[in-house]
Amino acid sequence: MSPQSSPPTASAGGVRVAVVGSGPAGAYAAAQLLAIREPAVEVHVFDRLATPWGLVRAGVAPDHPKIKSVTRVFERTAQLPGFHFLGNVRVGVDVSHDELLGHYHAVLYATGAPGDRRLGIPGEELAGSHAATGFVSWYNGHPDAADTRFDLSVRRAVVVGNGNVALDVARMLALTPDELARTDIADHALDALAASQVEEIVVLGRRGPADAAFTTPELRELDRLADCDVVVDPADLADGAVSGTGTGLALRVADNLDVLAGFAAHEPAGHRRRIVLRFRASPLELTGNGRVQGVRVGHNELVGTAGGPSVAVPTGRVESIDAGLVLRAIGYVGRPVPGLPFDGGTTRIGNDRGRVLDPVSGDPLRGVYTAGWIKRGPSGVIGTNKKCAQETVSLLVEDLAAGRLARRSPAPAENLLGELARRGVEVVPYAGWAAIDAHEQALGRPLSRPRVKVVRHEQLLSLAGPGAGTTSVNSASSSALDQLTSAHHMHKNGSSKPASMAPARTTTPKT
Ligand SMILES: Cc1cc2nc3c(=O)[nH]c(=O)nc-3n(C[C@H](O)[C@H](O)[C@H](O)COP(=O)(O)OP(=O)(O)OC[C@H]3O[C@@H](n4cnc5c(N)ncnc54)[C@H](O)[C@@H]3O)c2cc1C
Ligand SMILES: NC(=O)c1ccc[n+]([C@@H]2O[C@H](COP(=O)([O-])OP(=O)(O)OC[C@H]3O[C@@H](n4cnc5c(N)ncnc54)[C@H](OP(=O)(O)O)[C@@H]3O)[C@@H](O)[C@H]2O)c1
Repeated sequence: MSPQSSPPTASAGGVRVAVVGSGPAGAYAAAQLLAIREPAVEVHVFDRLATPWGLVRAGVAPDHPKIKSVTRVFERTAQLPGFHFLGNVRVGVDVSHDELLGHYHAVLYATGAPGDRRLGIPGEELAGSHAATGFVSWYNGHPDAADTRFDLSVRRAVVVGNGNVALDVARMLALTPDELARTDIADHALDALAASQVEEIVVLGRRGPADAAFTTPELRELDRLADCDVVVDPADLADGAVSGTGTGLALRVADNLDVLAGFAAHEPAGHRRRIVLRFRASPLELTGNGRVQGVRVGHNELVGTAGGPSVAVPTGRVESIDAGLVLRAIGYVGRPVPGLPFDGGTTRIGNDRGRVLDPVSGDPLRGVYTAGWIKRGPSGVIGTNKKCAQETVSLLVEDLAAGRLARRSPAPAENLLGELARRGVEVVPYAGWAAIDAHEQALGRPLSRPRVKVVRHEQLLSLAGPGAGTTSVNSASSSALDQLTSAHHMHKNGSSKPASMAPARTTTPKT
């Protein structure tokens, strides 16, 4: 440490942390940081969207409202003094990593893994072939997918992959308009799915039923769809077809096999739609003239590896399935944040339990941390990120106590907000999101829906309030952050109580 440095320590007063990404990992990390009593911690949660909570809003399926209710926990965190949301700020674009480091004692990246994995087979680029990521964003009203279109005038769709995302998208294609109409699905998707001609959804798993990644409640849920049969070939459950490993099946797998056996034993009831779960089947090529018309599928046999997972080995037998829509649900990948080290191989931020590592020296980068999918890869449910964030935050606290956070006192955060305003970035404070939230819920109420989502970025910004962050940043009367805090409390209290009367606890230096 250089002699002129004055790192914040537990005895040196307040600490300011920037959390980049307001998904579960960022939200849990914020809660854990705000729970630190000494020193007081102020947390500024940045998100590139005007709306918080990451995949809880933009990933979790609309027909899973109970899971989405975890936002209530995050909302309670947002009520804590010291919490600030700075929406509509793209870190790496609107503000650089170095700038954040210059204004915060620590920066914690929780940017998720929004990219899609590719199959790498011929025809993947044909019209009608999509990543499930895009389909999920579309039905969930992510602004990036507001103009995406899916041709649902086709009879058969193929979903590639055997994870929970594959089940989500298959189910969304199978739900009836009535089932969908009760959810917070984006209106454009509600209309398109209500008019959908899709009758059969074939889900392809490259390995056996015991190797499938889906969880049992999600599998069982297929049986509760109002107008959809679930079809499983009993031959897929025969010895040797289940898994290459054969023995020692985990409880989840045994439960999955039970549910699949139930499906295989059922006679189809003649519902309007059917989901066909196929195993040991890999797409080899998407065929069609200008757009997808079929999938060439190669059959596999399963070979066990000593103590490891089974491997799918092609048998050479190939069949063609007619299909006009292909959704690949084979996993997500992380994307780099400009200016921050990124491991292109794992598509994660290289880290040691959450401490971001210098890719050259392998040493931890001072004051830089990561949590969630961008830290450990795109797997795990919402709750997994709580433990993950806890691991990271505990290391941050350890570094804080040891005086290892930043090399110098960071510049006031107001300076950064002023700079964002000069760049024309309309920062959306929590009050702005609260206004969006209230508007969406009000639209949903008469329709008995949780909300009607606003999907256009410009409309979200205009709902968030006039000039959301920019006007307050330009005000000379008090600090921009105070103004954001004030707006925050005004909104929460439903009154125009001035900031000084609000129960503020801020470590931000006053200007
Ligand atoms: C389709 C789908 C459905 C799922 N359903 C369930 C479910 O039903 N139940 C369950 O328990 N789990 C579910 N999961 C898993 C769960 O959503 C993840 O475990 C969790 O969201 C990962 O959290 P995260 O914070 O790491 O990432 P995310 O939730 O992706 O959050 C990342 C945040 O970072 C922001 N961001 C990214 N880059 C930047 C940047 N440069 N600057 C500023 N902000 C940025 C994004 O806008 C986003 O808000 C689902 C996952 C998917 C993909
Ligand atoms: N309701 C919920 O709780 C819920 C909903 C959605 C998502 N999630 C969670 O979010 C995480 C991500 O889910 P996910 O479904 O994206 O990922 P996932 O669980 O990792 O599943 C990915 C699937 O894609 C398959 N795959 C990968 N590459 C392939 C290829 N080239 N060809 C064919 N198949 C291929 C994998 O098969 P192999 O095993 O053979 O590699 C696997 O079946 C998971 O932890 C999931 O549980 C939870």
